[in-house]
Amino acid sequence: YAYNPRSVSKTGITVLEFGEHLVERTGPEIDAWCASDPQRPRLHFSPVKHWMNDPNGLCKIGDVWHLFYQFHPAGTDWGPMHWGHATSRNLCEWLHMPVFLHPEQNLARLGATGGAFSGSAFRGRDGKVKFYYTERLPAYDLFAGYREIQKIAEPGRDLIEPERITTVLEVRPEGVEHDFRDPKVWWDGAARAYRMILGASIDGDPAVLLYGSGDGLEWQYLGPLYRAPARFRAEGARAVECPDFFRLEDKWVLVMGFVGHIEPTTGRHNLLYALIGEFAGDRFVPDAPELQLLDFGTDYYAMQSFEAEGRQIAFAWLFNWEYRKPEGSAYSGEMSLPRVLSLNEDKSKICMLPAIEVDERYVAIPVAPDRSGDYALPSAPIEIRLSGPLQGSKLVATEGGELAFEVSVAGDILSIRLAQDDGSIRYVAELGGGKDLRLFHDRGIVEIFADGGAVCGTRRGYANIEPDRLEISSSASAQVFEKLAK
Ligand code: FRU
Repeated sequence: YAYNPRSVSKTGITVLEFGEHLVERTGPEIDAWCASDPQRPRLHFSPVKHWMNDPNGLCKIGDVWHLFYQFHPAGTDWGPMHWGHATSRNLCEWLHMPVFLHPEQNLARLGATGGAFSGSAFRGRDGKVKFYYTERLPAYDLFAGYREIQKIAEPGRDLIEPERITTVLEVRPEGVEHDFRDPKVWWDGAARAYRMILGASIDGDPAVLLYGSGDGLEWQYLGPLYRAPARFRAEGARAVECPDFFRLEDKWVLVMGFVGHIEPTTGRHNLLYALIGEFAGDRFVPDAPELQLLDFGTDYYAMQSFEAEGRQIAFAWLFNWEYRKPEGSAYSGEMSLPRVLSLNEDKSKICMLPAIEVDERYVAIPVAPDRSGDYALPSAPIEIRLSGPLQGSKLVATEGGELAFEVSVAGDILSIRLAQDDGSIRYVAELGGGKDLRLFHDRGIVEIFADGGAVCGTRRGYANIEPDRLEISSSASAQVFEKLAK
């Protein structure tokens, strides 16, 4: 398929446009071209070409779901950030849309890094959706010297491009270093005012900052919503990124990534942590002080959730900087399956399960009977389900004897191993009972949901091993499904 690089952004970077009718479906040729890449996941969103990271601006407008994402349209590595855009009517199949946001500053000078960083959608009381996001003003050092400011992009018709961009916050509070980004905004009915959070650090501790506004344009700093305990800084954490804060049932949930953090006992990094608590009078009081892991796998980062149709739906970026796609790949980066968030029975844990659309959209064909054994796998995305006690279970998927993934439960400890693992990092989680497990495998992506979604583990492997056999040993009953597009 020949791309049509006919639009050039202000920055001089060529921005891809697909087809003449920018609002219409972008054409089966693009889907066919993507599907012709034997390594490209089928159930998970990926950009047609080039680099993608965080999900941004998630929302549903009318019947259409919008997924924006951090995008570098000039290569398969991270670079000056744009907002890519895709739309869907079922949360599973996506149309690729033109780039929505371009970096505003002049990036012509080689090596400058900056751009339209992460942000989220906000639906005003007038029903209109706006996007709050961070613009990073470029610096020549990736880790220092930059400035981050907050802006609003008001979309024009059909969300093809912004109609107006306004800077709303430039000055950082005292003690807050360069990292000052990734806004999430909501209307606080009790305060009758807007609230916004930003990821940052305060005197070196990762922190989430809380802001208030009467009009959504002028913002006052209300103080920290959360400041991480000192041990995080000692373990390398520099700042909070992509904070998410939302009502879930009758609680409030705070989700954070700690850039630079390495978990000492397992060696894992790129983890997302969460707290459940109460939010009143601009104070967030966690029910328990311990941060809980949202996903134990490390390839589930920059999660963004949003409320639609009474559900809290989330996407995350499946990447952890450690491994990457082999040279020659047309693109880099995939999104998780859409997940729906809830709380467990005693409201002490966040649960995530694939959205019902994942089940509706794909025909699940049982490929294995209801028992342990050794099975041939189809060359397609699969789902494995175990129900019953998980203790002692083991799933080993291989291609010609080479390991694709191994999932095992020893005592109450669930662990995942991929071909690329050398044992220096342990991908483990403790089950609380362990009576059910769902595992999706899609061309190197493994997403696990156990204990009703209270334990989730996501890994992205790059060894390009497409398993053709699956060995199941478990006293739970097992089923394997082939996931096919309808
Ligand atoms: C997280 C992140 C965000 C930032 C964006 C830049 O992955 O670092 O904090 O806005 O990526 O691409």
